[in-house]
Formats: sequence, structure tokens, C-alpha cells
Amino acid sequence: MRCALLLMTHLALLLVLILASENLTASRSSCPSHCGNILIPYPFGIGKGCYLNEWFAIQCNNSTSGELVPYLPIINKEVVKISLPDANTLFKTTESYGSLRVKTNITSMGCSNSSDETKFGEPLNFTGTSFTISRFNTFQAIGCNYKATLTHIEPTVVGCISTCEPRKIGDHTSCRGNKCCQVDPPSEIGQVVGINMEEISSNVTRKRGCRVAFLTDETQDPLAYREAKVTDPKWFYDRQYAILQLRWAIPMTNLSFINSMGCKMGYSSSSVSPCICMNNTNNQISSVGCACHKGYTGNPYILGGCKDIDECQLDKGNYENCRQQGGTCVNTQGSYQCVFKKYKTMPVTMDYVWVLVC
Ligand SMILES: *[C@@H]1O[C@H](CO)[C@@H](O)[C@H](O)[C@H]1NC(C)=O
Ligand SMILES: *[C@@H]1O[C@H](CO)[C@@H](O)[C@H](O)[C@H]1NC(C)=O
Ligand SMILES: *[C@@H]1O[C@H](CO)[C@@H](O)[C@H](O)[C@H]1NC(C)=O
Ligand SMILES: *[C@@H]1O[C@H](CO)[C@@H](O)[C@H](O)[C@H]1NC(C)=O
Ligand SMILES: *[C@@H]1O[C@H](CO)[C@@H](O)[C@H](O)[C@H]1NC(C)=O
Ligand SMILES: *[C@@H]1O[C@H](CO)[C@@H](O)[C@H](O)[C@H]1NC(C)=O
Ligand SMILES: *[C@@H]1O[C@H](CO)[C@@H](O)[C@H](O)[C@H]1NC(C)=O
Ligand SMILES: *[C@@H]1O[C@H](CO)[C@@H](O)[C@H](O)[C@H]1NC(C)=O
Ligand SMILES: *[C@@H]1O[C@H](CO)[C@@H](O)[C@H](O)[C@H]1NC(C)=O
Repeated sequence: MRCALLLMTHLALLLVLILASENLTASRSSCPSHCGNILIPYPFGIGKGCYLNEWFAIQCNNSTSGELVPYLPIINKEVVKISLPDANTLFKTTESYGSLRVKTNITSMGCSNSSDETKFGEPLNFTGTSFTISRFNTFQAIGCNYKATLTHIEPTVVGCISTCEPRKIGDHTSCRGNKCCQVDPPSEIGQVVGINMEEISSNVTRKRGCRVAFLTDETQDPLAYREAKVTDPKWFYDRQYAILQLRWAIPMTNLSFINSMGCKMGYSSSSVSPCICMNNTNNQISSVGCACHKGYTGNPYILGGCKDIDECQLDKGNYENCRQQGGTCVNTQGSYQCVFKKYKTMPVTMDYVWVLVC
């Protein structure tokens, strides 16, 4: 018990040392962590010295409703959510991207009183930034008797046809071709995409009305999205936006930054580092994404940002298992151990601090 206690003290000391090393990134610790209630993790940041480079600069401005809202000026979009790369995805696939959800303009036709109004807008164009369009978006077209297609993604043709059959009433919550159609875009859209809408019939007496089309990841939360009335184009027209998911990574050109993070390139089970980075080479743009290793949590993009998880505190199961075997659960860097009073079982992965004390 005494031994374990001493060990804890030393770990606490280690933790202090780790926390102190955060001062190497001093400018960042004085940076705002949120805009309104939206978390802004580094490499994104608000104000000079708080972001990696202009691509990740966030402006936190008052919206018309008086709330603080984050904007990403480089792509001229309002940000809804920023996520760091997910550790599970990073280690299981070749996808080491963070995600970024932004508001984009919807494309509409015939929704305002000027009968032949169309608003196709400019195609989305993220060329020259580190943002690409995520494959977790769906293309939706809502309204009657038209064909909606994605443009600028040649040679692939992606689109769908939405008709309005008067007999097929009743289904207002699904998007299966009647009043609403949807299609999954190809996995690699890249950085440029536009939307086009066409009549499917020249019969002027056929029902037209308001039609909208957009790419969105909102369908991933069906419960929240159903309320948005997938067969009511006017609802989307009045809202004026759809939430698009982008992905981001650190471009391979900035090796100095990647080297400064104190992370290891590539996963290896033999040498455990709190922070792991992976190459993304499946795209035209080579980039790197990082995540905290199992047993750690935090922001890998800050030196010392991956903090040890106290498995004994966080998972009562670990604590109980040790106790039932007559031992004490002791947290270690990246893991935990069961420590027994008479040292019958010595820990397999010995901590050097542990050796010093006993
Ligand atoms: C870290 O920086 C802050 C302000 O810059 C300073 O007050 C604090 O003493 C520093 N901590 C350490 C451990 O150097
Ligand atoms: C945010 O505020 C800054 C400074 O007042 C201004 O320059 C910028 O255009 C604003 N951005 C947006 C998106 O409104
Ligand atoms: C936002 O607007 C409110 C009220 O109009 C004002 O009190 C506040 O200072 C503004 N905040 C910023 C960051 O401009
Ligand atoms: C989105 O639509 C609004 C309103 O029509 C327009 O003012 C704005 O410039 C558009 N934004 C983009 C990025 O196209
Ligand atoms: C559009 O037309 C309808 C009926 O013709 C009218 O009630 C409505 O006020 C008009 N809306 C606008 C914005 O002009
Ligand atoms: C996208 O932007 C790049 C650079 O700004 C430009 O060269 C390209 O022509 C644009 N593409 C489209 C389809 O607008
Ligand atoms: C035009 O559409 C209406 C309603 O769908 C239909 O009754 C009519 O037969 C169509 N006319 C032609 C020329 O297709
Ligand atoms: C590369 O990263 C450093 C920080 O390590 C940053 O200061 C610099 O602006 C970055 N350069 C580019 C081209 O992104
Ligand atoms: C990542 O890519 C860079 C440049 O293409 C290469 O030098 C490096 O060895 C790669 N690292 C891994 C772990 O694949």
C-alpha cells in the first residue's frame, strides 16, 4: 500500500511535468477555447498566434441574432462543429482526417414569387485549402418533377429524379423518389462540386413549385432530421442552409509542424507513444492526421496535449476486478496495473518510477 502510494506521488509529479511542458505552447493556452458554445481545437484558433496558419483561422463574430458564431474566412463559411481525427478510425483505416461541419447555401428553383427564379450559385470550391468534401454526405433533392445532378465531378454522373405522384400520398418522412430523392455521392468528391437542376418534362401543366437540392450530413441523425420535413422544400428554402461535412488534415508540406508535435508516425504496438500520426496518400493532396493513443485523451496537435487516462477512476470495472483479486488498481502512463501487497505478481510492464520506489 505504501509502495502504491509512493508510486502515485511520482505519477502526480510526472503529470505536473507534463502539464508544465504545455507552456511550450504558451501562446495557445491564452487563446479562447470556444466561440459561443462551439469548441475550437488547435490547429484551429481565434486570433493571431492561436491557429496554425490562415487555413485554420476562425473569426468569432456576433451573428444577427446576437449569438457568437465561428466563421472560417478562408472558405467563407459558418462553422457548426470541429472534430479532431477519431482514434478508432485512424488506426483501423487509412483515413486520418478531422471533420468540420459548415453551413452551405442550398440550391433552389421556383421557391420565390418571381416564377422563374433559380439560385444555383457558384460551385463549392475548396481548391488551395486543406479541406475536402467528406464522403459522409448525402445528396438530397426535394420537390416535384425534376432531376438534380452534381456537377464538376466528371466523369462520374451522380443525380436523382424526384416526382410527385398524387396517388402516393401519406409518406412524408422518407426520401425515396416521391417529393424527395437522394443519392450517395462517390467516395472521393474532392474539393469542387456544383449542383444543377433540370425539368424532366416540358408539360407546363405538371406540378412544379419550390425545389431545393443540397449535399448534407444531417441525414446521419434521422431523428433530428425528420423534423425538418424531408418532403417540404419550402422549409429548407426558408432556412437557407444545409450542413455540409468537410474533412481536414495537416498538409504534408508542413513537416516542421508535424515534427514539433512530439508524435510518432505510424502505428506500432511495440513502442507506445501518447500520440500517433498517419499519412493520407489516397488523395491528390498528401496530408497527415493525428490522434491520441489508446489510454490517452486530449489534443494531439498540441505538444503534450495527449493526457493519460486514469483507467482506475474512469472504469470502475478495472478498479473492482483488482480489488476482488486482492489487489489495488494503480494507474500507469497509457494503462493501469493491479498491484498486490506481497508483490506475488509483479507488473508486466514496469514503470521506471515504480522500480525506483520499490
Ligand atoms: C506557464 O505560463 C504562464 C503564463 O505564461 C505562467 O504564469 C506560468 O508560471 C508558467 N508555468 C510554468 C510551469 O512555467
Ligand atoms: C467578423 O468581424 C471582423 C471584424 O469586425 C470583420 O472584419 C469580418 O468581416 C467579420 N466576418 C464575418 C463573417 O462577418
Ligand atoms: C455582440 O453583441 C452584443 C450585443 O449587441 C455586445 O454586447 C457584445 O459586446 C458583442 N460581442 C462582440 C464580440 O462583438
Ligand atoms: C449564400 O446566399 C446568400 C443569400 O442569397 C448570399 O448573400 C451569399 O453570398 C451566399 N453565400 C455563398 C458562399 O454563396
Ligand atoms: C407571394 O405570392 C403570394 C400569393 O400570390 C402572396 O400571398 C405572398 O405575399 C407573396 N410573397 C411575397 C414575398 O411577395
Ligand atoms: C476553383 O478555384 C481554383 C483556385 O481558386 C480555380 O483555379 C478554379 O478554376 C476554381 N474551379 C471552379 C470550378 O470554379
Ligand atoms: C400534362 O400533365 C397533366 C397532369 O400530369 C396530364 O394530365 C396531361 O395529360 C399531360 N399532357 C401531356 C401533353 O403530356
Ligand atoms: C507550418 O507550421 C508552423 C508551426 O510549426 C507554422 O508557424 C507555419 O505557419 C506553418 N507553415 C505552413 C506553410 O503551413
Ligand atoms: C509519410 O509520407 C512521407 C512523404 O511522402 C514519407 O517521407 C514518410 O515516410 C511517410 N510515413 C509513413 C509512416 O508512411
